[in-house]
Amino acid sequence: MENSTMPTFLLLILLLLSHSQLRLLISTNTQPNEDISYMKFVRDGNDFPEKEEYDYIIVGGGTAGCPLAATLSKNFSTLLIERGSEPNKYPSVLKEQALLNVFTVEDDGKNPFNRFVSKEGVQNLRGRVLGGTSMINGGVYSKPNTDFFKTQLGVQKFDMEMVEKAYKWVEEALVYRPRLNAWQNAFRRVLVEGGIVPDNGFELRDVVGTKIAGSIFDENGNRHGAEELLNKARPGNLKVAIRATVERIIFSGSSATGVLYSDSKGKLHTAVIRKNGEIIVSAGAIGSPQLLLLSGVGPKSHLSSLNLPLILHNPHVGQFMKDNPRVGVIPILPYPLDFTSSKVIGISNNNTYYFQSIATTSPFSIPPSFSLLPPNSTSVNLTIATIGGKFSKLTSVGSLRLNSSTDVKTTPIVRFNYYSNPADIQLCVGGVRKVGDFLKTQIIQNIKTRDLEGNRVIQFLGPPLPENLSDYSSVAEFCKRTVTTYWHYHGGCLVGKVVDGNYSVIGLKNLRVLDGSTFAVSPGSNPIATLMMLGRYVGLQMLKQRGV
Ligand SMILES: Cc1cc2nc3c(=O)[nH]c(=O)nc-3n(C[C@H](O)[C@H](O)[C@H](O)COP(=O)(O)OP(=O)(O)OC[C@H]3O[C@@H](n4cnc5c(N)ncnc54)[C@H](O)[C@@H]3O)c2cc1C
Ligand SMILES: *[C@@H]1O[C@H](CO)[C@@H](O)[C@H](O)[C@H]1NC(C)=O
Ligand SMILES: *[C@@H]1O[C@H](CO)[C@@H](O)[C@H](O)[C@H]1NC(C)=O
Ligand SMILES: *[C@@H]1O[C@H](CO)[C@@H](O)[C@H](O)[C@H]1NC(C)=O
Ligand SMILES: *[C@@H]1O[C@H](CO)[C@@H](O)[C@H](O)[C@H]1NC(C)=O
Ligand SMILES: *[C@@H]1O[C@H](CO)[C@@H](O)[C@H](O)[C@H]1NC(C)=O
Ligand SMILES: *[C@@H]1O[C@H](CO)[C@@H](O)[C@H](O)[C@H]1NC(C)=O
Ligand SMILES: *[C@@H]1O[C@H](CO)[C@@H](O)[C@H](O)[C@H]1NC(C)=O
Repeated sequence: MENSTMPTFLLLILLLLSHSQLRLLISTNTQPNEDISYMKFVRDGNDFPEKEEYDYIIVGGGTAGCPLAATLSKNFSTLLIERGSEPNKYPSVLKEQALLNVFTVEDDGKNPFNRFVSKEGVQNLRGRVLGGTSMINGGVYSKPNTDFFKTQLGVQKFDMEMVEKAYKWVEEALVYRPRLNAWQNAFRRVLVEGGIVPDNGFELRDVVGTKIAGSIFDENGNRHGAEELLNKARPGNLKVAIRATVERIIFSGSSATGVLYSDSKGKLHTAVIRKNGEIIVSAGAIGSPQLLLLSGVGPKSHLSSLNLPLILHNPHVGQFMKDNPRVGVIPILPYPLDFTSSKVIGISNNNTYYFQSIATTSPFSIPPSFSLLPPNSTSVNLTIATIGGKFSKLTSVGSLRLNSSTDVKTTPIVRFNYYSNPADIQLCVGGVRKVGDFLKTQIIQNIKTRDLEGNRVIQFLGPPLPENLSDYSSVAEFCKRTVTTYWHYHGGCLVGKVVDGNYSVIGLKNLRVLDGSTFAVSPGSNPIATLMMLGRYVGLQMLKQRGV
């Protein structure tokens, strides 16, 4: 599959942005306004002793790891180990507008933007900071339709009352009802006019129709990521090591006994678990399968080819990697509109498609003769918006394997096999046709500008929609040509394949995996609500299993 043109264009224009407006935006507007009382638990990895003992050790201070650590600390000594820094070291990530960093800031090996490129050439990224990817993402908080818990996780039985309580626990701490700016209001009308009905107003649950979702950005645009859930931890029981990278899980026979981690100076530390203690890997859909493989848990042939000692042969570690492709276009609006992350979601029948939009002003302007503004007006800056979404029933699967370097800092090799299954192409074609309906709405018709021949057209960044949407093969071609990520990649340590319904690694003792790597299906329109809920939920179950 060829490299996509759409993200390249987007990247180009946003790179230009970074040199003008964006720098200013970030440097002048960074009054962090999060509750950082969790900082009392946080210390640099360098300051930890060479060896220490805990009841629970959690690898990865991300979206699922933070709520899990806060919960387990209620009664047990808990160590949370995160490779990145504390977010206040990078105050720009704390602001909604700084979401544009996702497109512009280079990966320096330390900052929160850990970039990787799939084998298909699709640019992607994961969070490297306390709070994990919840600190660099679009901030949308939305809970899947309850069917998710019945059908998607198969072998797992959920206590739905506990699930709802766990969501509530998260929501009280960091979920806000967003105010819609001009573009989000317009997009809401586009969805409704385009047939995504009814308009359900503000709604945290994914329900068919158009809705205003929850957000982890407050009314002042301050981000409240998963690390703020650490504020709920029991003082004295929690320690958080930052700039500390777990290199291996240590085993004795088939029991996990501890972890080996390096600090920023490269010095190695050991943390071991007490009797009845456990290690929980929450390093994300790339980091968790990677760490299992590096520790000798995975396909025998792959591990032996890298001379890694085998702890447990499990062919499924690193398999079933999925990344929902983004379906849509990027229209250019002839007005200057404020930056906005996604606030409104359109959910089609049967939860088949989830549509969202982000928009940002560009430093580019057009003369009035090309716009539809009165001829006496001066040039206006253009806005770039995305109109698109993802489909939920993704069939194509890929895999992850280690790079020949067995250094944990080397990104593994990931292939998602986008559109390798024709069922996905069919769903993409349906989604593109739906986007075609959105483009026919009055609001979008009003953003037309004059092209060089004087025709009134919608201008796009990257390829426009195919002219004949009835022509399956040209729409399918458009899907393949514009493939890019929706950033909801998941899989690698699936429930039923690598972990059981309690997220315990099958065939080993004292070891669990809990994060997006366990999902066969990404939960609903947006995963972070469910990832944070699961951190709380599984933590409570573990406490219960210990008789607390
Ligand atoms: C640009 C972007 C926009 C998105 N927008 C949204 C959105 O609006 N709403 C939504 O719900 N979802 C969104 N997502 C997806 C969502 O943010 C992620 O799916 C989710 O945060 C992943 O959570 P996780 O717990 O699986 O992993 P993470 O949150 O990534 O946590 C893993 C943590 O482990 C750490 N780690 C990894 N390896 C090691 C190691 N060896 N030692 C120590 N630490 C380690 C990492 O640094 C990281 O902090 C978006 C994602 C991106 C990238
Ligand atoms: C757990 O902690 C609570 C206080 O948070 C305490 O009341 C209880 O006795 C503890 N239980 C155990 C088994 O340690
Ligand atoms: C929704 O799903 C059901 C069963 O899977 C199917 O019969 C129906 O046609 C679907 N409806 C739409 C609008 O796709
Ligand atoms: C608008 O465009 C001009 C150049 O045409 C640029 O100098 C200015 O910074 C832009 N304004 C914004 C808010 O992007
Ligand atoms: C531009 O022209 C419109 C009518 O076409 C008029 O209403 C408006 O006041 C004019 N603006 C300026 C700045 O002259
Ligand atoms: C492995 O990683 C190294 C260093 O990042 C890189 O140069 C190399 O191309 C990678 N190998 C593969 C097969 O991707
Ligand atoms: C659009 O494509 C369909 C299906 O291929 C075809 O029947 C139809 O003639 C095309 N319409 C135009 C205007 O080309
Ligand atoms: C999860 O753990 C509980 C308590 O140890 C046990 O009863 C249950 O069978 C386990 N479930 C699975 C799917 O392993």
